[in-house]
Amino acid sequence: MHESARLFYALWPDDATRVHLQRLQVPVVGRKLRPENLHMTLAFLGLQSKSLLPMLTTLLDRLPVQGFMLAIDRYGYFSEPRIAWAGPSESPPLLALQQSLMRALRQAQVPIRHEGTFTPHVTLARDAIRVDQPIVPGRWWHVGRIVLAQSIQLQGGVIYSPIAEKMLA
Ligand code: 2AM
Repeated sequence: MHESARLFYALWPDDATRVHLQRLQVPVVGRKLRPENLHMTLAFLGLQSKSLLPMLTTLLDRLPVQGFMLAIDRYGYFSEPRIAWAGPSESPPLLALQQSLMRALRQAQVPIRHEGTFTPHVTLARDAIRVDQPIVPGRWWHVGRIVLAQSIQLQGGVIYSPIAEKMLA
């Protein structure tokens, strides 16, 4: 039997965006993600055999190559898991990117659950209280890096570790 890994595809922030996301964490009350873990998931694959990794890496080549600017312009909240997040109120290029990833996953017959609509978000904290304030506009995330990442459970908590990446123009 192959070893398995808990996998997902995500937008990975550049350093400046990571710092900005950290600033957005400041008013949040809850168990904040460590800064190096901040990301935006595009597709969650769950536990998969590591034998799929070469194919899952190749799949990144099927995605659009054009980078784009993303405005993280609102706080949001998932009440049942008590997740406080920040995300874009709209971004057609982001939705197009996510849809082409889902299409590629379907075509490659990767066994994942396809759950409802995509709510783009960066989780800021868990066991959190809803943030009730607007985000001051003005900073853009230049989306240039998509990763296939692994979620690793360690004693000190979880770390998200990129395995493969695609850089956008
Ligand atoms: P979250 O930030 O909303 O918790 C690694 O665990 C990444 O995959 C996280 O971004 C997490 O989203 C996401 N994730 C974990 N379980 C998931 C699930 N069942 N459905 C969708 N995304 C999930």
